[in-house]
Amino acid sequence: MKNPFPAPVLGVRPVTKPGSAKETIHVDYSLEGSGLTYVTGDALGVIPCNDPALVDALIAALGLDAAAPVNAADGTPTTLREALISSYDITTLKKGVLTKWNAAAGSEKLAAILADKDALKDFCWGRDLLDLATDPEMKASFADAAAFVGILGKVNPRLYSIASSLDAVPGQVSLCVGAVRYTCRDRKRGGVCSTFMADRLQPGDKVKVFVHTNKNFRLPEDGNTPIIMVGPGTGIAPFRAFWQQRVADNAAGPMWLFFGNPYKATDGCYEDEIAPLVESGKLKLSVAWSRDQEYKIYVQNLMEQAADEIWDWLEKGAAVYMCGDANRMAKDVEKALLSIIATKGGRTEEEAAAYLADMKAAKRYQKDVY
Ligand SMILES: Cc1cc2nc3c(=O)[nH]c(=O)nc-3n(C[C@H](O)[C@H](O)[C@H](O)COP(=O)(O)OP(=O)(O)OC[C@H]3O[C@@H](n4cnc5c(N)ncnc54)[C@H](O)[C@@H]3O)c2cc1C
Ligand SMILES: NC(=O)c1ccc[n+]([C@@H]2O[C@H](COP(=O)([O-])OP(=O)(O)OC[C@H]3O[C@@H](n4cnc5c(N)ncnc54)[C@H](OP(=O)(O)O)[C@@H]3O)[C@@H](O)[C@H]2O)c1
Repeated sequence: MKNPFPAPVLGVRPVTKPGSAKETIHVDYSLEGSGLTYVTGDALGVIPCNDPALVDALIAALGLDAAAPVNAADGTPTTLREALISSYDITTLKKGVLTKWNAAAGSEKLAAILADKDALKDFCWGRDLLDLATDPEMKASFADAAAFVGILGKVNPRLYSIASSLDAVPGQVSLCVGAVRYTCRDRKRGGVCSTFMADRLQPGDKVKVFVHTNKNFRLPEDGNTPIIMVGPGTGIAPFRAFWQQRVADNAAGPMWLFFGNPYKATDGCYEDEIAPLVESGKLKLSVAWSRDQEYKIYVQNLMEQAADEIWDWLEKGAAVYMCGDANRMAKDVEKALLSIIATKGGRTEEEAAAYLADMKAAKRYQKDVY
C-alpha cells in the first residue's frame, strides 16, 4: 500500500437492474503505466473519498471554515474541506477518536459511554462524527480547523475481489461492488467506499488503488481440473476473473457456478457474459433466486439437490471455491459440502471433515469470504 496508483476510471455501470435490493455496480480502472500486475484471485485496495455533502454538513455543524488551511493526513497543505473529503476518516467511531473528541466536548454522557465497553460498542454502531457534532449533549468546540483534523485518523482503504483477468483485459482491473446504503437515526447513509464508486465516479477520474495479493485463492495450475465456484451476491466477483482466465488460457477443465441473489427479474449478474459460456458447454450454472417464492432458496440448497453430481466432480479431483458473506453463507455452504461428502461418500462426520481438510491442504478448497 506504500505507493497507491492513481488509476483512471474507464467506466462504471450497473450490474443489477433498477429496483434491485442488492444494488451492484461494475467498475473498470486502467492500470496502464502503473507497473501493477495481479493474478486472478487477488484483491484490489481502493482508497475512497468521503461524500462532499457529508463533509459540508460536518463543517457547518462544527462552525468551522471550509477554506481554512490544514494539513491532509499525509502532511500536504490543503483546505479543511479538501482534507476531509480526500484523506481523513470521518465515519468510523472508535475509542481513540471519541476520547479526543470528548477532550474538546467535555460531555459527561460521552464520558460514561467511553467507560463502558458494551455501551461504547453499541454507541459506535451506525454513528459517525456528524452524529456527535449535531448532538447537543456531545457537541465539541475546536479552537480551529487544524485542531479538529488533529483528532482524526487516515481514511482506510477497502479491499475488493478482482473481477477480471489481465490476460482477458490487458492493462485493466475490474470490480463488482455492492452499494452499502442504510438509514439510521433518520439520516440516509452510505458505505464510504462503495457509494464513492457507485455515486460519484466519472470516466477519467483517478482513484488510488493497490494490489492485495491473495495466494490462498488461486485457480488450479492444471487447466483441466474441474472447478466448482460458489459465489452468491458480490461473491461472484472473483469467479468472473476465473472464467475470463480459463477462456483466455483455452483451458478445458469444466466449470460449475453456484450463484444466488433475491429476484430473477432484477438481480442477475453478468448474465450476458455467462450465457455464451453455458451455451458452449464450458460452464454449468445453478442459480438460487432466494425470494422468488414463499420460502428461501439458497446456493447450498441447490448443492444438496445436485449432491450426486457434486460428489462425482469431487472424486474427479474438482477444486471448490467459495466467495462472499463470511457470517452466514460461508458456514452454511461448508455444512452442505460436508453433508454431501458424508452421505454420497459413505463417510462419518469425522471422515467427511478429514476429506475436506485434505482438499484444503491440496489447495482444492479455498475461500475468499468477508
Ligand atoms: C478480501 C475482501 C474482498 C472483498 N470483496 C468485495 C467485493 O468484491 N465486492 C464488494 O462489494 N465488497 C467486497 N468486500 C467488502 C468491502 O471491502 C467493503 O467492506 C464494503 O464495500 C463496504 O465498504 P464501504 O466503505 O462502502 O462501507 P463502510 O463505510 O465501511 O461502512 C460499512 C459499515 O457501515 C455500518 N453499517 C452497514 N449497514 C448498516 C446498517 N444497516 N445499520 C447501521 N450501520 C450499518 C457498519 O458499521 C459497517 O461496518 C470485500 C472485503 C474483503 C475483506
Ligand atoms: N465486511 C463488510 O463491510 C461487508 C460489506 C458488504 C458486504 N459484506 C458481506 O458480503 C456479503 C455479500 O453481500 P451481497 O449484498 O452481495 O449479497 P448477500 O447479502 O450475500 O446476498 C446474496 C444472496 O445470498 C442469499 N443468502 C442470504 N443468507 C444466505 C445464507 N446463509 N446462505 C446462502 N445464501 C444466503 C441472499 O438471500 P436473502 O437476502 O434473500 O436472504 C441473496 O439471495 C454480505 O452478506 C455481507 O455479509 C460485507
